[in-house]
Amino acid sequence: MTPEKLNDTPPAEFRKQLHELADWIADFREQIGELRVAPNDKPGAIRGQFPKRAPEEGEPFEKILTDVDDVIVPGMVHWSHPMFLGYFGWTSTAPGILGEILTAPLNVNAMTWRTCPVATELETVVIDWLRQWVGLSDEFDGVIYDTASVGIMHALAVAREEAAPATRKLGLTNRNLPHLRIYTSDQAHSSAEKAAIALGIGEQNVIRIPSDAQFRMDVNSLGQKIAEDRQAGLHPMAVIATVGTTSTASVDPVADIARLCREAKVWLHIDAAYGGGFAMVPEYEWSRKGWELADSIVINPHKTVFVPLDFSVLYVRDLERLRRVFTLVPEYLRGDTVEAEKNYMDYGIQLGRRFRALKAWVIWRSLGRTGVVVRLREQIRLANLLADWIKSDGRFELSAQPSMGVVCFRFVAGIGDAGPGSPTPATRDKFDAINSEIVERINASGRAYLTQTKLRGQTVMRIGLGNVLTTEEHLRKGWEIVGETASGL
Ligand SMILES: Cc1ncc(COP(=O)(O)O)c(C=O)c1O
Repeated sequence: MTPEKLNDTPPAEFRKQLHELADWIADFREQIGELRVAPNDKPGAIRGQFPKRAPEEGEPFEKILTDVDDVIVPGMVHWSHPMFLGYFGWTSTAPGILGEILTAPLNVNAMTWRTCPVATELETVVIDWLRQWVGLSDEFDGVIYDTASVGIMHALAVAREEAAPATRKLGLTNRNLPHLRIYTSDQAHSSAEKAAIALGIGEQNVIRIPSDAQFRMDVNSLGQKIAEDRQAGLHPMAVIATVGTTSTASVDPVADIARLCREAKVWLHIDAAYGGGFAMVPEYEWSRKGWELADSIVINPHKTVFVPLDFSVLYVRDLERLRRVFTLVPEYLRGDTVEAEKNYMDYGIQLGRRFRALKAWVIWRSLGRTGVVVRLREQIRLANLLADWIKSDGRFELSAQPSMGVVCFRFVAGIGDAGPGSPTPATRDKFDAINSEIVERINASGRAYLTQTKLRGQTVMRIGLGNVLTTEEHLRKGWEIVGETASGL
């Protein structure tokens, strides 16, 4: 093989490819609204379009890019499409894309400060910027992980170490350990159970506390359950309060829960994966009441602070508590860990780390605090507008108060027509099926994308705003599609 063949792409050719890619990205972004939002293929149909065997010889980039157009793009659910109204209405932004692009050529492993000082120091800087933006006290410091599920697992590992000291060293087996319990609302995310599984606490020891009519954790029931468990000789380890629940974006009464946790000496973790970003909006300042009493808080800027996936921040009061549980310096890294202010490998199970802070730095500088706030406010405005449209259409009902960018609603035309005693359980089932069918038909049509969830046992439709490309006009079109689809059933 000639030496050139062993090298990277020649610079002139690479430059040409980059320009081509730049045009591709700009075209994609400009025309994304014309694409189907989601494919309607049977599972496996897309895989069938790829060769079964890995390529023997290298292929030109142009050919690869053609396949991106022909196979990748049509096989995608386009979360950045203005008619994508599912989950938490993800967003891409031009500055976010630029931040990701910039990260690619740098391709560092920021496991220790020495292995890339700026990646470590910028991580500390952006974590602190976000802390200030959401009004969190400087007793909290944080670490960036990929997702909130990973963040909660690390937070609860610290809670476990404090409840069952020396678990880090001695493990769980063959020790007479306390029977640990975790409490969270019946609306909380399943990452609580996942963490309990990973930490050897067991998913059955995550106790689901009932929520009130507004889908907020019932604090009296929480207090009762903790007291009962104590009486029974169990060890209440942690409470998880949620700011922005997965189905309705409801906000638990965190201040009351925090007081209870302080009295009961129980770790308080706040899952603000979705709702945390909204704490930046003055109208939502109330949602951060009680945060100052928490032990840990997770916020996903990839959900609401415009950073591309993946980017989740775990804040811990006195971060040293997290470091003590996870620091472990293998011999081969010893030389690289001296004199460092912080080595982020000490704050979790992950060693290698990508330079995630860079994309946050690019997007947050590009938008500024005011740019973030106006965009979040627009999501809130659109959510409330949609709620008004729902309220004024007798065929539908709101299933929960709109919160942040989330609206849950249900098609109910004719549901109570059978007179007293209706709807019967059979009618309810029928309407569950109808609501599911509306969502499935819309998603299969490729015109819009929304999701469904269960609230108090009933299937409801759910729209999540969040995409910067989704305008009032798109939302109106989405609402018309819902109406048309419902009428067509
Ligand atoms: C409230 C809440 N917490 C945690 C998570 C888990 O987030 P991640 O995908 O970052 O693990 C979600 C996911 O949507 C969520 O809604």
